[in-house]
Amino acid sequence: MIEEATLTGVLPPVRHWPALDLTGTEFDPVLAELMAEGPVTRVQLPHGEGWAWLVTRYDDVRRVVNDPRFSREAVVGRQVTRLAPHFIPDRGAVGFLDPPHHTRLRSSVAAAFTAKGVERVRAKARRMLDELVDDLLRAGPPADLTAAVLGPFPIAVICELMGVPARDRHGMHVWTQLILSAAHGKEVSETAKREMSAYFADLIGLRENSSGEDVTSLLGAAVGRGEVTLEEAVGLAVLLQIGGEAVTSNSGQMFYLLLTRPELVRRLRAEPEIRPRAIDELLRYLPHRNAVGLCRIAVEDVEIAGVRVRAGDAVYVSYLAANRDPDVFPDPETVDFARSPNPHVAFGFGPHYCPGGMLARLEEELLMDALLDRVPGLRLAVAPDQVPFRKGALIRGPESLPVTW
Ligand code: HEM
Repeated sequence: MIEEATLTGVLPPVRHWPALDLTGTEFDPVLAELMAEGPVTRVQLPHGEGWAWLVTRYDDVRRVVNDPRFSREAVVGRQVTRLAPHFIPDRGAVGFLDPPHHTRLRSSVAAAFTAKGVERVRAKARRMLDELVDDLLRAGPPADLTAAVLGPFPIAVICELMGVPARDRHGMHVWTQLILSAAHGKEVSETAKREMSAYFADLIGLRENSSGEDVTSLLGAAVGRGEVTLEEAVGLAVLLQIGGEAVTSNSGQMFYLLLTRPELVRRLRAEPEIRPRAIDELLRYLPHRNAVGLCRIAVEDVEIAGVRVRAGDAVYVSYLAANRDPDVFPDPETVDFARSPNPHVAFGFGPHYCPGGMLARLEEELLMDALLDRVPGLRLAVAPDQVPFRKGALIRGPESLPVTW
């Protein structure tokens, strides 16, 4: 037992957690072993130095991410064990701030990301999606659903919410890909980030004192009022813009799962009213990312599930593991559209919870309606094991999704 071992001073073994190129919606077998080993284990990821604690149970995960004794700011300047090959936490970036500065920065754009805030773009988003589906139908089968719809749609929507003009969408997409990709090397990523930052600095600068409701106007107004600095505003804009493309991978996994499980699609077509609830169940079930995201550092000794974590230790939580905790989600391996309650943590929890949750739900609802209702007979054009999944990626999803109808 890990608890006993730790209390007697013997630490649990450090498990090597390799970067696996998993395909489909397979749950990471290493994570499954770690979950079976105990609530708090130790891991070493492919990059960085040393080891970190891994917390996997639902209640423990929510406790850690809501506990100010675990700090994101304290990660800056440290080479923690991690999945990402190059990792330079920007001082002041939203992911590496603690309250109250984190709260101040997030508040500046919060209005745009509430249920009401994202409703503002629903009608326009539906029109943009309809155009993409018109083009798909006009070109006829077969098609790559990622290239035709699941890629361009989230870019168009996030640009709309950000207040980025349509003519700059393509440039935003190229920068995002370069920033996120490890394949081109650190220099290329850094250059792309500098270019996107310069773009947003101009846009936000022009919108100081603006009363617009898009994100860059909200940021401009907050800079104008002296609530956030231009540098903070630009850093946040870049992360929100990049984050917007997470829907491409997530909806790619969602449609891959649906198209390999026709009984689920039949239900969603027969009972459209269950779709919003079904989307939440899919969000719970889909393994959105590889391994774990950003860690936290304990700023004092803390006990988690009977395990003593020392000040200075790195701690990861796994939201994927928490979403499969059988104490909270009975029969967690089953996709159950009737699951209720479904308090999943696919968008995280605590102060750093994903600002894009409402937007992602809205986009996935529109995608499900458009593709199930307007493309009857939609199915994979290749065998499920022939669908290429992205390799070496932080966020999991199909590279392309060959479909026919
Ligand atoms: C953070 C999931 C879409 C922007 C996060 C976190 C998760 C997550 C798990 C980390 C929470 C933590 O650090 O504790 C997802 C999923 C998405 C999605 C599953 C799609 C289905 C989006 C979208 C945007 C976005 C559309 C942009 C509008 C961000 C940002 C953060 C974040 C900026 C950092 C927040 C902070 O540290 O305060 N997301 N996300 N994400 N997400 Fe998302």
